[in-house]
Amino acid sequence: MKKNLLPFLLLCNLSLTAQLQVKNLLTENLPNPVGIDQPQPRFSWQLVSDRRNVLQEAFELEVFAGETTLWHTSKTLSDQSVFVPYKGKPLEPGTMYHWRVRVWDNHGFSSDWSEPAFFQTAFLQASDWQARWIEPGLPKTPERPSPIFRKEFICPKNINRATVYVTAHGLYEARINGRRVGNDYLTPGWTSYNKRLQYQVYDVTDLLKQGANAIGVTLGNGWYRGNLAWENRKDIYGKELALLLQLEIEYADGKTTEVISDSSWKCATGEIQYAEIYHGETIDARLEQPGWQLPGFDDSSWQPVQEADFPKKHLLATRNEPIRKQETFQPKKIIITPKGETVLDFGQNLVGWVMVRAKGKSGDRIVLSHSEVLDKEGNFYTANLRAAQQQNTFILKDDQPAFFEPHFSWQGFRYVRIDEYPGEVIADDFTAVALYSDMRPTGHFESSDSLLNQLQHNIVWGQKGNFLDVPTDCPQRDERLGWTGDAQAFSSTAAFNFDVHNFFAKWLKDLAADQRADGWVPWVIPHVMGLKHGAAAGWADAATIIPWNMYLAYGDQKLLADQYESMKAWVDYMSANSQQFLWNTGFHFGDWLFYSVNDDRDGRSAITDKYYIAQCFYAYSTQLLVYAARELGKHQDEAHYTELLQNIKTAFLQEYFTPNGMAVSNTQTAYVLALQFDLLPVELRQQAADRLAKNIRQYNNHLTTGFLGTPHLCHVLSRFGYTDLAFELLMQKTYPSWLYPVTMGATTIWERWDGIKPDSTLQNPSMNSFNHYAYGAIGDWLYRVVAGIDMDERGFGYKKIKIKPHPGGELTKVNASLETPYGKIQSAWQVEDDQLRLEVSIPPNTTAKIYVPASSVEHIKENGKPVAGSNMWQVMDAGYGYFCLEAGSGAYQFVVENF
Ligand code: BGC
Repeated sequence: MKKNLLPFLLLCNLSLTAQLQVKNLLTENLPNPVGIDQPQPRFSWQLVSDRRNVLQEAFELEVFAGETTLWHTSKTLSDQSVFVPYKGKPLEPGTMYHWRVRVWDNHGFSSDWSEPAFFQTAFLQASDWQARWIEPGLPKTPERPSPIFRKEFICPKNINRATVYVTAHGLYEARINGRRVGNDYLTPGWTSYNKRLQYQVYDVTDLLKQGANAIGVTLGNGWYRGNLAWENRKDIYGKELALLLQLEIEYADGKTTEVISDSSWKCATGEIQYAEIYHGETIDARLEQPGWQLPGFDDSSWQPVQEADFPKKHLLATRNEPIRKQETFQPKKIIITPKGETVLDFGQNLVGWVMVRAKGKSGDRIVLSHSEVLDKEGNFYTANLRAAQQQNTFILKDDQPAFFEPHFSWQGFRYVRIDEYPGEVIADDFTAVALYSDMRPTGHFESSDSLLNQLQHNIVWGQKGNFLDVPTDCPQRDERLGWTGDAQAFSSTAAFNFDVHNFFAKWLKDLAADQRADGWVPWVIPHVMGLKHGAAAGWADAATIIPWNMYLAYGDQKLLADQYESMKAWVDYMSANSQQFLWNTGFHFGDWLFYSVNDDRDGRSAITDKYYIAQCFYAYSTQLLVYAARELGKHQDEAHYTELLQNIKTAFLQEYFTPNGMAVSNTQTAYVLALQFDLLPVELRQQAADRLAKNIRQYNNHLTTGFLGTPHLCHVLSRFGYTDLAFELLMQKTYPSWLYPVTMGATTIWERWDGIKPDSTLQNPSMNSFNHYAYGAIGDWLYRVVAGIDMDERGFGYKKIKIKPHPGGELTKVNASLETPYGKIQSAWQVEDDQLRLEVSIPPNTTAKIYVPASSVEHIKENGKPVAGSNMWQVMDAGYGYFCLEAGSGAYQFVVENF
């Protein structure tokens, strides 16, 4: 090579690598996680390029610990950039690993090595735990004040790295030398504790110092032994709280040591005198033990703890994002109600708590009650909380400024009543903070209609308020449980708004753990109800529906494989309880909270036969099992369940449909489920859709569906040519409709279509939550159909994308986006003066079919140039007023004239 060519070649190479980059490195779908116990963690990354049509052709990946390389793939021809499993030398526990990746694309470009990402392993087997479980062994009192535990120890040398592994029976908050360990709340979260208990791992190097150190841990009742479910039930997992903690310290000289929970720890109680999830917390600052979390504190009056021998086999490193503090709110108004109550209005129904600053004298009290709505007269209203008290009491210890917030209780509220307070109530002294699982926001939907935008806001806040480690029905009354039906109905919408992959991966494991050997699935997960509370149609099907929805959204085959036996067991349960392929036994909730009227002389209540619904879900779950079997290469199962599905459908038709295609229940939900789940032969489908449309018109363009029919209603209408009618339903402002609550000032999704009636009176308090996400399932249709961001068949996790926007509903503009595992998809359309503008972004390493609505292909231009006749585009007339264009990654601007 000529000597002077070298700088030129180097320059070329530089510019080649600048064209392609790798970013967003994730391990097990988390950025730089600390505490991974998977022996083969999976790696994901994203390509960045300004070019169009970029696909990954090869990657090279390297995993190393310090100077040692554990895995080096060399250049591997593969387009896989999501969930690539580690296949190197066995990983060691408690070790920090770094990894980096570089890629080659189909244009001949290669990237530089990425910035290294890291992950730190957790314990990899039960024997890695040296710590002992410790219980407080304090005298029992009815209030059950929170026990506090402490331990002092000396670090004689400079510390290089320190890691704490911690969990509890109950909830815990740990501090080292007075500083909080991590910024996670309500840890260790909620799982089926006796089968699966998550622990957390924190790097605490910065909290320790050479010399004397102290650990202080407070425990709360939480889900473990607090009041949970109805009838004042408590102690569901056990009667006593306990702590398990192991601190591993590595000194600068390479030597290591451990500080573990054991009988050398001491225990007392402090200022948290009472803490219950539903009822609130009482903190009496006069009982604080100043300095107890610092070294040098005199704990001679404290009690010794008791070691307990609980198994460690079911301990697991945390799989999902922890609960963290998120948005904060100042009061919008201070209201004096007609009854004379002082009430703060935070302007948003949220889930979390209020942080208070106050000043008074010793013994002064602050009593905060929480509610979601005011009643018709404008008074504070708590009847819909049922037995939950949602009340926090803070007691001052002296005349110094004080700060209070709860630790082991949270509230669902917009309004806060202040019953006792020293001095004048000043808005700035009260800050509401939302707490929820720290999922990455992924979706954005906005339109030209402000009510619709508020609906989207309400859907998102319904999700924030009910995704606190488990998907709950509601966050305020005496439930807050992982109701399976609500979760399955909302799961696909949830996966648009946030990255819920890890959240559901963890919860589904609890579902499988709590499922009976015969396949029976409890109503709520974790299962905290009676032995008969399970196997309800549309609820238990969370076992099949959610894994499949997660597979569609994230393309994670391992999640599907992990849940496969659980999916199968649920279908087998239904089969075992069927006769001649008809599943018509047992208790079912039916189409929960469907439209009904009190005086039903003319039969307007939309009652759908419960066994009809059960049969629909039996078919749907079986269909999903067939799909899963196909994906996982389980061909025998695929054949077996395909045959079963056919029999289920035949039985359904014989039992529930007339030969002319009329359903025994003439309701919207009946037609919606039969059509959505493909239960009707092709020749009967359109007429069934016509009957559905007719039914909607009979209700003057209103929906009548409940929890099970609602998620699919607009999808079915769109599929059978009734998108206009779906838009009518969407934009409907009178009850029952999605926008009716918005017109009544809702800031979250309500449990009932008419939680507040048009005359401002409130629905029956026994069942009237104002933060229940189920009806928010319309979000899926907003993203998929209105904005048109959808996944293409067999391109799971958006490897293949379908963009098919549906301008309509008098909307002039929609702008939506979704962060997928590959990067951001955008679809934004605008209609103005007979012209449609459509902007689409497709991330690298994916392909898309873009369906452009136009009456003729001649009317479509992209980037100013006609697409017809262009060799850049493969165009196909897709019928129904759409032209389908094949596209690779890139940003596209379409203009359609004569629209
Ligand atoms: C919950 C629901 C749940 C239902 C079962 C209710 O109490 O709040 O959302 O799905 O029970 O029908």
